Amino acid sequence: MKPIDLRSDTVTQPTPAMREAMARAEVGDDVFGDDPTVNRLQEACAERFGMEAGLFFPSGTQSNCAALMAHCQRGEEVIVGQDAHTYHYEAGGMAVLGSIQPQPLTNRPDGTLDLAQVEAAVKPDDAHFAITKLLALENTIGGKVISRAYMAEALALAKRRALATHLDGARIFNASVKLGMPVKELCAGFDTVSVCLSKGLGTPAGTVLVGRKDVVARARRIRKMLGGTMRQVGILAAAGLYALEHNVERLAEDHANAERLAKGLAQMGLNVDPVQTNMVFAAVPAESVASLKRHLEENGIKALAGPRLRLVTHLDVDRAAIDRAVAVFGAFFQKAHAAH
Ligand SMILES: Cc1ncc(COP(=O)(O)O)c(C=O)c1O
Repeated sequence: MKPIDLRSDTVTQPTPAMREAMARAEVGDDVFGDDPTVNRLQEACAERFGMEAGLFFPSGTQSNCAALMAHCQRGEEVIVGQDAHTYHYEAGGMAVLGSIQPQPLTNRPDGTLDLAQVEAAVKPDDAHFAITKLLALENTIGGKVISRAYMAEALALAKRRALATHLDGARIFNASVKLGMPVKELCAGFDTVSVCLSKGLGTPAGTVLVGRKDVVARARRIRKMLGGTMRQVGILAAAGLYALEHNVERLAEDHANAERLAKGLAQMGLNVDPVQTNMVFAAVPAESVASLKRHLEENGIKALAGPRLRLVTHLDVDRAAIDRAVAVFGAFFQKAHAAH
């Protein structure tokens, strides 16, 4: 039987229809700016987000890094969450490549930063300090949706303190679908937003940075410096255009499947976090982790099993696959329960 891969929403295979769109893509040399499909994708994203410009990147990591470098000069600082991808999971790129100082703050359980702490972290104009330049947020973060009301408050603070703003919107469409709010409204006021196409939207690669024209123009030069400017990349952009058209609204199915999976696990007595989008987190007793890993492997379930189990739903797991996964977990936990 085909394995059920719940490690991440990045594991999806392009569908035959997406591959068809890619095969048919009209392409050109994007270093010269004349790949029509890339240009269409950039314009479509900018338009959808109500932003001035868009720029296609090979990955979310590079898009975030280029955006931070476009906002901050050497020796300037970004206020960012400890759990943010830009801070925690990008190999320190902002510091290594951009000489940007991160000022990390603890994320609260709902994923937000305490805005009083953000305010207090803005450094005064004093030669001792780095120059605080940017506030970087993430939505969704750890599968949690950050509300528009919170983001509006954060944006107002940034404006008051003359900070630029960047949103890592790798999964912004999950937030948008969950809230029933168009991304244009959800992201209004950010200077830049990094939007991944290769997560819930199911493309093989690609992220579009949308935002202010001047910042995106700087990011274009940085993308070149980072080696991320590609040639006939309309083949990948075509997958992005296809995904924007076909794979956004259906994210609601992933959310429903995550909810179903969480319910199944909770019924086995596991402590499961409330589900908001497509990620399920559950506590696994430390003594069960190794045997659970083995059991899942033997039964065709791929998962990042640890004391904090993370399961992610996506395009390639349907409701039947979720039910099969629940049964596999059930067999393990019932056995474990019987042994005690
Ligand atoms: C929130 C978030 N931002 C950025 C990225 C980076 O994307 P990529 O893997 O395309 O570099 C990821 C990847 O998982 C992510 O989860």
